[in-house]
Amino acid sequence: MCKESDAVLLGAVGGPKWDSNPQHLKPERALLGLRKELGLYANIRPAKIYSALVGASALKKEIVQDVDIMVVRELTGGLYFGKPAGFEKRNGDEVGFNTMIYSVSEVKRIAESAFEIARRRKKKVCSVDKANILEVSQLWRKVVTDVAKKYPDVELSHMYVDNCSMQLIRNPKQFDVIVTENMFGDILSDEAAMLTGSIGMLASASLGGTVAMYEPVHGSAPDIAGQNKANPIATIASVAMMLKYSFNLGAESDAIENAVEKVLSKGFRTGDIYTEGTTLVGTKEMTEKIVEYI
Ligand code: IPM
Ligand code: MG
Repeated sequence: MCKESDAVLLGAVGGPKWDSNPQHLKPERALLGLRKELGLYANIRPAKIYSALVGASALKKEIVQDVDIMVVRELTGGLYFGKPAGFEKRNGDEVGFNTMIYSVSEVKRIAESAFEIARRRKKKVCSVDKANILEVSQLWRKVVTDVAKKYPDVELSHMYVDNCSMQLIRNPKQFDVIVTENMFGDILSDEAAMLTGSIGMLASASLGGTVAMYEPVHGSAPDIAGQNKANPIATIASVAMMLKYSFNLGAESDAIENAVEKVLSKGFRTGDIYTEGTTLVGTKEMTEKIVEYI
């Protein structure tokens, strides 16, 4: 069904109920299958702070004000898909293992996506790797440096992933576009999301194939599922991205984003972004308010 669609909007999946299932029967596997089958190698995760929410961030206002980062995460390679992977007995001891592997062509196309995106922004790309230790990262760095030659108008820097995780907290404003491999991107995009106050705010688009997929960055939040508490903004903002990137409906996409801003500036908050003096609402009320402003 997804392959026959023009775009896919994905609701977060997974939960403790399925955690002890065998790998192939976990809902997360289906998500990975969709990404791979649809060829969605470029996952773009914007972390932009809404001005009304500066106070909801766990970091100081001066640090997070005006933060506007785009994490470009490679989505169909690296540690998530590398072979060999599995469990086996080695010298009488059981081991579990995965492989972090990238080919030149895989790195080249994600680097190109990042440079293209940077051209439409502040023209800065920071490539994140662990090239002081990993061969796979040394290849990554070499290829990104090569691709950069085609984009002389874009400034390229390199950063080790551990340093990047620190810099995101210390001085997030230094970043414009961050490009990185699958697993590093998984981790850093959660961290970047949290700068904005809550991971419940952040949308993402997965591009690269003919059918794109849109999904919130957050997981399924099983602890609050079904209680009318979850923040619907990440999903609503994912629809805005879908209208823009898959259907070229810029004005309609802006209408959604502006409605979200409006509702936040009027002081409506779900629990995850609630601060004193604002109005606490549930998932349904938040959605209704946004619809009203659209
Ligand atoms: C994400 C999620 C997924 C991932 C999980 C649910 C498999 O954390 O989209 O960031 O790790 O890619
Ligand atoms: Mg994740």
